[in-house]
Amino acid sequence: MNKKFLVIGNPIEHSLSPKIHNHWIKKNNLKATYDKRLLKQNEIQKLILDLREERIHGLNVTVPFKKEVIPFLDILSDEAKNSQSVNTIYKNKNKIIGDNTDIEGFKIGIEATGQTTKDKVVLILGAGGVVSSIIIALKKMQTSKIYLSNRTKSKALEIKSFFPEIEIIEWGKTTAFDIIINATSIGLNEKDKINLDYEKISQNKFFYDVIYNPKETFFLRKAKKFGAQIENGKMMFVYQAQKAFFTWHNILPIVDDEIINLLDT
Ligand code: ATR
Repeated sequence: MNKKFLVIGNPIEHSLSPKIHNHWIKKNNLKATYDKRLLKQNEIQKLILDLREERIHGLNVTVPFKKEVIPFLDILSDEAKNSQSVNTIYKNKNKIIGDNTDIEGFKIGIEATGQTTKDKVVLILGAGGVVSSIIIALKKMQTSKIYLSNRTKSKALEIKSFFPEIEIIEWGKTTAFDIIINATSIGLNEKDKINLDYEKISQNKFFYDVIYNPKETFFLRKAKKFGAQIENGKMMFVYQAQKAFFTWHNILPIVDDEIINLLDT
């Protein structure tokens, strides 16, 4: 039987998930297809029914539905529950299960850079859907302190209600940090800028951007110029996909240069 997988989101055109999953499907000689679908909020229920009735065998979920899908699922993994964010859905023993592989994707992606995170101070910019996953990963990585700053303060405070140990700082201000993470969408557009005193704060620091297209946002480019180590979100994306693939197919697909280069083309 040909198994059917989908990534859902809105917008969805930019998604590279079909590219990476179809590559691994082919490499492993599986009978499966992976497509993307632009979805409206009121179509989620029907799609979950398709999964229940096995017309579809697995879903990835992207912005803005990672939280919205939750009411339609039977069981959440601990990671999905703790983050209130689902990016991978499947059926097991007649139950529809929501999982979150972004947490592990972020963690493995950072570990692969060789950066130490234990006992480090982290400043996160942004309070969108991915931030709770990043906080959970950072806690697992034993960072010592997490600061969060977001333009809309109420959204930062909402995240703090789930993670009381984090500290909120005003948008536009910074604090002493070892690692700074851009989790805003600023930089998706090449001319977007995050205004920071890069010259003063970059030296020997680690700048991480969740964005990987463009490869080097203004945030990363400027920080590199003033002596920072930098990394974009590409490996987070690759490793969240690897874990989702394992969940559905019980095969851990290989992450190699071929797969990394595939995402550049
Ligand atoms: P979602 O909330 O759907 O997950 P997202 O794209 O993941 O959205 O998150 C967008 C993030 O980028 C938010 O933190 C947003 O800040 P607000 O909460 O104030 O909207 C941030 N962001 C986007 N454009 C921005 C800008 N021009 N200046 C500052 N922050 C911006």
